[in-house]
Parts: sequence; structure tokens; C-alpha cells
Amino acid sequence: MAGVTDYTFRRLIKRRGGVGLVVSEFISVEGLTRGNPKSKRQMRFDEDERPYAVQIFGGQPERMAMGAEMAEEVGADILDVNCGCPAPKVVKNGGGSGLLREPERLETILKEIKRTISIPLTLKLRTGFTDSTINVVDVAKMAEQCGVEHIQVHGRTREQGYKGLANWELIGQVKEAVSVPVSGNGDITSLEYGMKRWSETGVDGILIGRGAMQNPWIFRQFADVLAGREPYQPDLAEKKSVLLEFFELCLEEMPELVALGKMKQLAGQFTKGLVGGAQFRQTLYHSHSADEILDNISIYFASLESRDTFGDGIVEADDLVIESCDAFKESSSVVAA
Ligand SMILES: Cc1cc2nc3c(=O)[nH]c(=O)nc-3n(C[C@H](O)[C@H](O)[C@H](O)COP(=O)(O)O)c2cc1C
Repeated sequence: MAGVTDYTFRRLIKRRGGVGLVVSEFISVEGLTRGNPKSKRQMRFDEDERPYAVQIFGGQPERMAMGAEMAEEVGADILDVNCGCPAPKVVKNGGGSGLLREPERLETILKEIKRTISIPLTLKLRTGFTDSTINVVDVAKMAEQCGVEHIQVHGRTREQGYKGLANWELIGQVKEAVSVPVSGNGDITSLEYGMKRWSETGVDGILIGRGAMQNPWIFRQFADVLAGREPYQPDLAEKKSVLLEFFELCLEEMPELVALGKMKQLAGQFTKGLVGGAQFRQTLYHSHSADEILDNISIYFASLESRDTFGDGIVEADDLVIESCDAFKESSSVVAA
């Protein structure tokens, strides 16, 4: 996720356990192949993160192949092509979900990349550009012919943005239509929903985006369920310490002001569904220094502990309802500021 799954966030998630694969933020091949330091920084990863996929985006076949080669050179295990980003700036330049409107161009890109790299090539798709031009099954078949080794489908069209629910029926159709592995994606924030969609569609795996910000233990919990164990439940102390750990990781990597923004972004999602979470988010958004943030976290968790009547660390609403992208923007705009 752009602006989210950077080096710091990926490490935080990886340390919680159960993650099969982490993916970089999407990286512009225009930036990467022109030596933009931000794009190069975005490719950076830790050995502990392996297997690690770099996702690139762009619309020009030669640039995409060059970008793919650079990802292979830095040691990525997998190269993923973004064919889902709905942002107008990306689409206008022929990249992201714009490629769904031009399958021939996508085909050229995939073939060029295949000729250039030897690590596995994967593709992240939306279901179509508009709701009336859904073509994910055809695009997936074409991609398979080009040598794509794994297809991930976010079950929404570009037109849908993040509205409504992901269409898992279409994801199931893709699984039926190709023989390479297919992973499904969209709206998984609970074990029940994820396991239901997984088994209904018969996909080979699932991808979790926003749910990982709300619950960094979600991968471990899935791994537990798959292994027949009770899903791990972090207590309040652990929830508090994960926020502190994230802040510490951010401070190691970036200036305090940027770290504050990152912290507000994560805490905004992390506290969804927690008692008093809305009020806590307000105090965080108005914190202007590391000390102030740390104080506010301590005060908030102390208040939760005092309400934890059963001493089991559970004082939250059970159901973490998926938030719309607008809610996300609300928190990410704080980062931009
Ligand atoms: C802030 C944000 C940034 C995203 N950036 C990317 C991206 O760079 N590449 C990508 O393939 N998908 C990106 N996505 C889409 C997610 O990977 C995922 O497909 C979508 O959010 C649906 O899954 P979820 O309900 O588990 O979040 C982004 C989503 C969000 C909310």
C-alpha cells in the first residue's frame, strides 16, 4: 500500500508473525529508471523480510522492463506489476488500472518484463476499469499466457474506487479460468470473513491491506486457524507496545515530524473499534512532538486498563468494521500535513 507498506511498517508486521509475503509500496518506474532517490529508497528491504516482492507501476514497456531489472538487481524475490491503482495521475500515464483499458499494452509490458528478469513475475489486478467493462477473467488468461506466475485480484473495479464491497464471485471466476495460483483481496478484516471468502472461492491465498493496519496480528491469527490453533489474542499491554515499537522504528528511519505523521496514520486505523478510540485519535492528531504522542498513548491505555473489568485485555468492540477509503484519507492527510 502506497504510503503505508514502507520498510518500517513491513518490519512491524513481519515481527508479529504469520505473514507469507510482504510487498513494497508501488514504485514508479519513471522515477526508478531516472534515478529518483525516493523510488530507490522505496525498494530497500531487510533480509528478514524475505520473501519480498517489489511492486512497480508505469505504462511504458521499456521503462517497466528496466524497472523490473532494477528490482531483480537489488535482490527482490518476486516482481509484481500494479494493474489496479485508480489514481488519476497514474491512470493518465497509462499505468495502474489504466492498463485494464489497454490489455494489448499490458501484454507487451508483461512479455518485455518476462524477457528481462528471471525472478517470478506476478500481477495485481482490479476487476475492470468501469463497472460495465469488467474484463478481469480475460486479462488474467492473457497474463497467464505471457508467463505471469501468480495473479492477485482486488475484487473492485477502478470506477468503484473503495466503495461497496469487493466482488469475490469474480475472484472465484478468475481462479476457475487459469491454472496459475490466484489470490483474492478485498475487505478482509476478520478471520471469519477471510476464511469464508477463501473457502468459497477456492483461491490459493488471500491478500490483506487495510486490515493489517487495524490489526497487525491478523496474519498470525490466520496462521493459527490454518494450523488448527486458537487464534492469538494480544492483550492491552501488547497493543500499547506495538504502537510504541512502531514509533521507535519510525524515529530510527525518518525525521520526528514525518514519524509523527506516520504514527497518526497507523494509530488512526489501529484504534478503530477500541473503546474511546475516536477521542484518542483526536488527541493524537493534535500532538506536536514525540513526547506528547508518548504521553497521550500512556494516558489512553491507562484508561483502557482501568475499564478492563475482567483483566483479559478485552475492552473493545468485537467487530472491526471495515472503514471506507475516505476514513483512511482522513488519517493519511494528517501525514501529508
Ligand atoms: C492507502 C492505500 C494505498 C494502496 N496502495 C496500493 C499499492 O501501492 N499497490 C497495490 O497493489 N494496491 C494498493 N492499495 C490497494 C490494496 O492493496 C488493496 O488491494 C485494497 O485496499 C483492498 O484490500 P483491503 O480491503 O484488504 O485493504 C492501496 C490501498 C490503500 C488503502
